[in-house]
Amino acid sequence: MVALQQLPSSGGDKTNDETLFGLIAQDLENQGYSIRHGALPEGLAMSLFEHQQDLASEAFKKAGIGRGENYLENEFVRTDEICWINGDAEAGKNWLDWTANLQSFLNRRLFLGLFSFESHFAHYRPGDYYKRHYDAFRGEANRVLSVVAYFNSDWTVADGGELVLYKDDHDKQGVKVMPLFGTLVTFLSEEFPHEVLAAKRDRHSIAGWFRVNTSVFDRVDPPL
Ligand code: OGA
Ligand code: MN
Repeated sequence: MVALQQLPSSGGDKTNDETLFGLIAQDLENQGYSIRHGALPEGLAMSLFEHQQDLASEAFKKAGIGRGENYLENEFVRTDEICWINGDAEAGKNWLDWTANLQSFLNRRLFLGLFSFESHFAHYRPGDYYKRHYDAFRGEANRVLSVVAYFNSDWTVADGGELVLYKDDHDKQGVKVMPLFGTLVTFLSEEFPHEVLAAKRDRHSIAGWFRVNTSVFDRVDPPL
């Protein structure tokens, strides 16, 4: 008898992934956002968490608002530190492969026309927060779909640091999400203002954005 082997952490389980992607697509269709606990494949989540721990803190930069020339460090809005994921490390590459599968699934199922993806690790130290904001502005940005994944074991209500997703500008209550290990949140970037409440413990996550292609004439955006 050959002992049953665990799936390697890098190799995704296509059937499980497609089941999850189907549920996310349904959530997005019904309500514009999706909150799925324990969604990230365990092996992928573990390796991302370990990689994030290994990254020297100098790889993290104080997070700024906007990009390029509009990049602005703004303590008033956010205080976390970030590190962009480029796929050089195995864990980051596996994450980019997995999100690429999500992208093509959603394009097939919902015709979203998602074209590219960018993402970063984020580290919130105790006291860090990210005030209410949109990830994209209507008619201006080309960020279409936001995705956030969390890597915090044994998180409790007392640890704060919830993501609060608001239905619109007038919603004061919102939906609170604990940043629990393996939780995946997906939402339409232009539709939902959201914030991160001050964390009382170190809080680890990845935030990412799928974009549509907004190339006009000879200007290519996002850069290839
Ligand atoms: C962001 C963001 C949410 C979170 O980085 O834009 O809203 O829960 N992050 O980390
Ligand atoms: Mn955001």
